[in-house]
Amino acid sequence: MTIEEITENLRKDLKKKRFNHSIGVAYTSANLAMKYGYDMNKALRAGLLHDCAKYMSDEESISYCKKNSIEISDAEYNTPALLHAKAGSYMARSKYNEQDTEILEAIRWHTTGKPDMTLYEKIVFVADYIEPNRDHDKELEFIRKLAYSDLDRCIAKIYENTINFINGSNKKMDPTTLEAYSFYENMITNR
Ligand SMILES: [Fe+2]
Ligand SMILES: [Fe+2]
Repeated sequence: MTIEEITENLRKDLKKKRFNHSIGVAYTSANLAMKYGYDMNKALRAGLLHDCAKYMSDEESISYCKKNSIEISDAEYNTPALLHAKAGSYMARSKYNEQDTEILEAIRWHTTGKPDMTLYEKIVFVADYIEPNRDHDKELEFIRKLAYSDLDRCIAKIYENTINFINGSNKKMDPTTLEAYSFYENMITNR
């Protein structure tokens, strides 16, 4: 599918706020790709598609995953919203005919991230957090600057703030989030 076709489909599927967020992630990913010498067009596609499955209810997400043999972890049963990353990767391939595995993997990992991400996965993970429509973190101005000066430190900071937020709420932590946080914390302290 072309960028235009993807955009038109997303406009139909997603709520306005989610659609605008997806456009924000697309252009922020493309921008980070410029900065770090990555394929801009691929970054744009992954950014656009990253939340393509984020319109289903918890029950719909679970049944979509079961129907398509997508494994559901304990953390995902506890917080089914997490499933939109796996479901989105599957949907990007089946509905949007996206065949590029780097794009599909970046969508797969955009929510929790993981230890030792590829540059491409990092770009989409960070863009999701910092795109211009976001205002969920008091330190966003600082984090946005970090994204362009020190990507790994930026990721460690995103994890730190995410973990603080989850601990202060009644949400359950995906263990991948903690593993990835210690990976990036170690990386920036030991370099
Ligand atoms: Fe998402
Ligand atoms: Fe998102």
